[in-house]
Parts: sequence; structure tokens; C-alpha cells
Amino acid sequence: MSWQIAIDGPAGSGKSTIAKIISKRFGFEYLDTGAMYRAITLKALNLNIDLEDEKNYDFVNETEIHFDHNEIYLDGVNVSKKIRSLEVSNQVSLVSKFKVVRDRMVELQRKMASTKNVIMDGRDIGTVVLPNANVKVYLSATPQERAKRRMLERQEKGENTQTLEETIQEICERDYKDSHREISPLKKANDAVEIDTSSLSIDEVIEKIIMLVRERGMNMEDVKDINEEVAQEATKDEAVEETVKEESTMEEASATEQESAQNEVSNETEEVQETEENHVKELQLVEGTVESVEEARKFKTKEGKEQEKEARVLIRLDNGQEGYLFSKEVPGVENGDDLFDMFLEGDRVKVVVKKVYPDGGKVLLSQVLVEKRENLKQYQEVIDNHGVFPAKIVKNIPVGLILEHDGYSCLLPTSQIDMTEEELAASVGKEIEVAPIRVDYNRIRLIVSQKVANAIREREKKNDFIKTVEVGNVYDGVVKNIESYGAFVEIGEGVEGLLHISEIEHNRIVKVDKVLKPGDTVKVQVIKVEEGHIGLSRKALLPNYWKDFIDATEVGQLVKGTIVEINKAGVVVQLTEQIQGFLPKSEFSYERDAVIEDFVNVGEEIELKVIELDISKKRVILSKKQMSENPWEVLNLKQGDVVEGKVIAILPDGIKIDVQGAGGYLPNNNFGEKTEFEKGETVTAKVRIFDPSRNKLLLSMRERNERDVQPRAERKASDNEVNKYLKNQEKMSGTFADFINLDDLK
Ligand code: DC
Repeated sequence: MSWQIAIDGPAGSGKSTIAKIISKRFGFEYLDTGAMYRAITLKALNLNIDLEDEKNYDFVNETEIHFDHNEIYLDGVNVSKKIRSLEVSNQVSLVSKFKVVRDRMVELQRKMASTKNVIMDGRDIGTVVLPNANVKVYLSATPQERAKRRMLERQEKGENTQTLEETIQEICERDYKDSHREISPLKKANDAVEIDTSSLSIDEVIEKIIMLVRERGMNMEDVKDINEEVAQEATKDEAVEETVKEESTMEEASATEQESAQNEVSNETEEVQETEENHVKELQLVEGTVESVEEARKFKTKEGKEQEKEARVLIRLDNGQEGYLFSKEVPGVENGDDLFDMFLEGDRVKVVVKKVYPDGGKVLLSQVLVEKRENLKQYQEVIDNHGVFPAKIVKNIPVGLILEHDGYSCLLPTSQIDMTEEELAASVGKEIEVAPIRVDYNRIRLIVSQKVANAIREREKKNDFIKTVEVGNVYDGVVKNIESYGAFVEIGEGVEGLLHISEIEHNRIVKVDKVLKPGDTVKVQVIKVEEGHIGLSRKALLPNYWKDFIDATEVGQLVKGTIVEINKAGVVVQLTEQIQGFLPKSEFSYERDAVIEDFVNVGEEIELKVIELDISKKRVILSKKQMSENPWEVLNLKQGDVVEGKVIAILPDGIKIDVQGAGGYLPNNNFGEKTEFEKGETVTAKVRIFDPSRNKLLLSMRERNERDVQPRAERKASDNEVNKYLKNQEKMSGTFADFINLDDLK
């Protein structure tokens, strides 16, 4: 699994300076994504395209960009200098706002990061390009500070032509454009650590980032600063010196044995002539020459006590000091006599100084410690492999804790402890997990970190978790970050996926934050896993009522629903709890001027025919008139026929009567004895005119002879009224209400 460090921030915040140094420290590849956008801008300028028109940027998909030794190559040509021109700087924000450009750059950037350890700087690295980066840093600084840096940089190149105010303005304008563009604007990722570099030195910023990297479980061997820091910490503090001595005593076979050996050596000490600086130190690996091998013998102490003096080898160290190597300090030696077989006068030997005495007497030497020192090498491998091991806390010292693991002393510096005050207070005797971060050969011990161990464990969990993420898996995720194009959702163990705006709901969403906010829990399903990028869907888990309805329904089918609204355009009908259909006015009746409210009311149940189903538009169109045949085509009436109908409207000059679906008209002067009518009433009338080709049905309730006796002038006037109505009927596409308002009918 490659390591990714993401550094984002505005222009002049120090991203590239910092990223370059860190890339060197860790041996990571440095990818300057700003340079990539600049390279595309350069190419666009060279192509002389209209920069404002996104359609002109298709060339990006055939453009090749790569880095080599921190130099950028555009289609194979090194353009590292050209991309820094003022012309490119002035246009790059414009070019980098286009989706086609960003999509291509993000694709290239992810590809570059997929195979090697990278440190990438830019504006959208932590939020978009590498949402699962191991470390995310957001660098900021005041516009003044950043402008000063920019000016200095340009001055160094001899190209400064702007005042401080102008440079501040340039920086602010760029900030605005970079952070207000629609796609991937400059933004701090939720899980990024912000470092304000305004009043920090480069070293201080580096140090902060290295601390972060260390906490996240990075191999510490290359992080020289940390090693130095730990070493200094150890040497500076006297308590540690003391500890080192204690550590060495942990290896002693027995305290009394050691005691007697020490007494003996110091009793026999001669004055050493060498200067202080020349003296060997405890635990130092030194070389020397065997002077003699002395056999075991008995001797009397000052107090007259008889003691056994063990066999030993007297060695003259290369600095002139002398020391004794006792048999128990030689690996594999059973008894003192063996020393005679192993050491001859003049032999060259490698030994570790086990003990020095303040009076400058002969030192105690050890080859057991040489072996132990050698064996420390195995821990280098543990460091390289991000290994973790258990160790027992032995002692609490001012600069940290002393632990013991496999016979080795381990220093856990305070800065690397990951415990609460209470836990720490009760920690001695407990076992914890630590990660070695440096092998201290000089003190034959390990420098360990609990924070690194915890971070490694977390990283392992994250990696293990990523391995289990498959298309189709469902998680209860937590929204971490809202973007204009979707939301980043943590699905577990610090792993985030992108829930694109189109995957949030079945209905179209315009603003993500109208539906989701950071901290929300959402059930999501994995729909894509590609190069460590996880695509999520929420809508896939939501019931798709429209699809279900449309799957279960056919055009032509009759459906029942409840009228929820009657408006100018037609009728809204609730078909299921979630689905509404629409009955357009034109589909209500074959009568073009029918007033819907004359027939149905809100709240009423109605049966209708489905005439259109469109899942993409979420549309169900209904018809009432198509449920029966066109009455004008079916009715076969002739003058004089007696018909029954229902009064559907009372008009100023007559009444409207529904005759088997066809609208008939009975003018006032064709009323018979009955002159008062009510809506909904059933009446019987005679057909006076029936012309289905023009949708005309004129009715009369007068007796036939009544018409005959009608005075001619009156008859004419009556016919004129009818003609007027029929004329209007032809013209009309509106409603009956419109018809009533027509002045010429009054
Ligand atoms: O870091 P820089 O100043 O060289 O970046 C140049 C421009 O590129 C910057 O104004 C915004 C754009 N850019 C971007 O949109 N996304 C990135 N990841 C990096 C840079």
C-alpha cells in the first residue's frame, strides 16, 4: 500500500517549499498539481483557443503530463520554466475551473499516486484527489505574508514588477477564484490539519508535519529529525543517563555477583592516565587486545572476608584503558577455564563497556552485550515493516517510560506516549503495544512509540477494512464533508467514499446540503471500487416508488385515485401514497368547454386511463375521455328524437345538458312550460339540431306546434341566439367559464 501525503492551501502558503523538503526526507515522489494546471494553461495559450469556452478543452484528454526529478513535462517537453510566466499565472484560475480539465487532471494525479509513495500539493488533494490520504495538511497564511513571499520569490528571479499592494490584490483575487469555483474549490478537508505558516519558520512547519506523519505510522528510520530529537532528549536529560545505567543492570545475572566483581575490580584499580575525553563510556562498543587470561582464585577482602575471584581476561582497550572480561560475559562459556581455550595474549577482541567507575579504575567489559547489540539489527526490519510488539512498562522517568521487551530496554519518550494521565499514573507493570522507531546501538536499546503503534494498528484496520469493501456492500456511514458535487461519507475505520449528488435520492437534488449535513448517518451501498476510490449510493437503498409503479402499470390500464387538486391545467390525482398522476384538461371530456368542477370534486375517488408513463420525467398522464368512445361518433340522433340528459350548467341564455357524454344546449326561448332548472337535474328534451361533425346538439322542450305558432320575428331572434352560441362553440378552445364571459353573448 503506497503512502499519500496531501498538502492543500492557497497560493503562497508554502506548499511547494514544504512538500519538496518532505519529499526528500521520506524519499517520496513530489507532485505539484498546480504545475499541472499551469501546463494545461500553457498549452491552451499555445493553441490560441478561446479560453472562456469549455468546449475548446477537449485536447486535455490527449495531453500527457509527467514529472521527472521535480521537473514537469508537457507532451514530453520540459516546461518547468514556461509555466511560471505571468501570462500563465493570470489565466490558470480560469482554465482550472473547467470540469473537463479537472476530470483529466484528477485522473492523472490518482494514477500517479496509485503506484508510489507521494506527497501531492494543490487545492483539492485532501478533498477530491486523495480523500483517503494517510496525512492531510492544510497550509494557510495571511494574504500579506503570502504576498511578501511571492515578491521575494520574484525578486530572487529578477522579475518583480509589482508593489506589495498589487501583489496582495493578485493573491486575494486568486484566492477568491480558487475558493469560489463550482468544481473542487479550494477547501480544507474535514480531516486535514491546518497549519498557519504566517509566523512559522520552514523548519517549524516541517517539524509539525513530521510529527503528523509519525503519528500516522510512517517508518521512522528516514525521519532523521525525529531520531535526533530522541537522541538529544536522551543525552540532555540526566535522568535518562541514570536510566541507561539501570537498563544495563537489568541484564546482570545477579546483583551480589555483580557487586563483588565491581568491588574487586575497583580494589585493584590503578590510576588511569588518559584524559577524560578519551575515556570509554558505558555501553560503548570498543576494540582491544588481550593482555592476559587469569585463572580463578580465592582472595581476602579488606574486611577479611574470603571471596572467590572468577577467571577473567584482561584487555587493553585501544584508547589505553584496561578492562576485565569475566566468563559470564562471554557467550557460550560454561566455566572460567574455557577462557583459556578462547583467548590468547595478543588476540584482537570486540567488547562492550559494561561498567565504568568514577575513580577511573579498570572497566568491566562484555561480549554478551556485543551479541545483544548485534541482535538489535533485527529491529531495523521491524521498523521497516511497520511492526508492533508488546512491551512491559518497567519504570516511569522524567522523559518518558522505560519498557522491557525480549530482554531489551526500550525508551518511550513522553511525546510518544498515547495514554491519559490516569492510565500513565497506573502504568508500571502493565504491558502495552509499541512500535520501534529507532535502534539505539550506542545504548543497546530501542526507542519506541506508542502513538506510532496505535497509528499502525489503525492503518492496518483501515487497510483490512478497505480489502473488505466490495460493490454491493451496505454501510451505515457518517457524512464527513459536503461538496457541491456530493458528500464524502466515512463507511468505517477512517475510510471514505464519495456519495455523488446524483446518488443521494431518486429525485433530482440541486443542493447537497439541503439533504445532508456533516455528522449525519446515512445508509449507503458501494457501487464502485476503483484504485482505492469508493463510489457510494444512497438512492440504491431507497425504495424507488416510481420504478415500482411504472413496472407494475401499463399504458391503457385503468387506475383508481383520489382527486387532490383541480387547477387551470387539469386534475392532480393521488394514485398511491407516493405517486401522483395528472389528468390534463384536454383529456377530461370530449366537450372542449367542459368545466371539470361540474363533474368532479376534490377528495372524490376517480377511475382513469393511463395514457403515458415516463420514468425519467416521473410522469403518469391520465385520461378520462379516452375511457369511453367519443359520443359525437357514437350518438345517432335525428331531429325530433326525445333524449334524456343531465343539467350541467345554467347559462344566462340557456342551459347546458349532458346527453350521453355529448354537450347539448337548450336556449331559454326553447324552454317549454318548465322554466326553472337545477344543476344535476335530469330532463327530457327533443333534438332540434344534431350535427356531430361540428359537435352540435341543440335541444328544445317546446311542443312542436309551439314553434309553429311562434311569431316569425320572435323565431328569428331565437335562431340568431342559437347561431351566436354555435359560432362561439366553434371558435372556442377554452372553458365554459370563458364562454360565459364572452361579451357578444350578452
Ligand atoms: O499552486 P499554483 O499557484 O501553482 O496553482 C496554480 C493554479 O492551479 C491555482 O490558482 C489553482 C489551480 N489549482 C487547482 O485548481 N487545483 C489544484 N489541485 C492545484 C492548482
